[in-house]
Amino acid sequence: MKTSQKIATLLVTAVIAVVFLLGNAVNAQAKAKPWPVPDKDKAMKSPSKADVAVGKEMWAKHCKSCHGSKGLGDGPKAASLKTFPGDFSSAEFQAFTDGELFYRTDKGRDEMPGYEKKIPGVSDRWALVAFMRTFKK
Ligand code: HEC
Repeated sequence: MKTSQKIATLLVTAVIAVVFLLGNAVNAQAKAKPWPVPDKDKAMKSPSKADVAVGKEMWAKHCKSCHGSKGLGDGPKAASLKTFPGDFSSAEFQAFTDGELFYRTDKGRDEMPGYEKKIPGVSDRWALVAFMRTFKK
């Protein structure tokens, strides 16, 4: 092989390596850490029958952009997040108590906004919990 060919081969290899590394860095979204909920909050239940239709409306307005229409963590904003928002259809997620989902929705953490003030109606936030149950596979 001529020197010029060797250099060309090296350059091509280097470019491929850089593209590969950058691609990986972009996709390196962290899996969420465990999110502890105090026992008394874990046991919370909706004070009245939650309205799934209201939950669906709230979801479209406030949550879908990150969590996706089916809660798979694939909303249009998801790719730009450092933390994967989670797969809400999973058995792992569905095993959380209603109280845990309510608490995390209320308080938020890091990139997950807290909705206690943004969605002031308590029944609207419980409706969201009921709607998140519809993602179960
Ligand atoms: C800006 C993007 C964004 C929006 C909007 C958003 N979330 Fe999140 N959500 C996240 C991220 C990221 C996480 C993971 C956070 C973590 O674990 O640190 C998360 C986590 C959660 C969790 C906990 C999941 C688990 O496995 O414990 C619940 C419940 C939740 N979101 C519900 C909602 C609801 C309900 C809404 C709308 C009212 C909403 N989210 C809006 C980004 C978002």
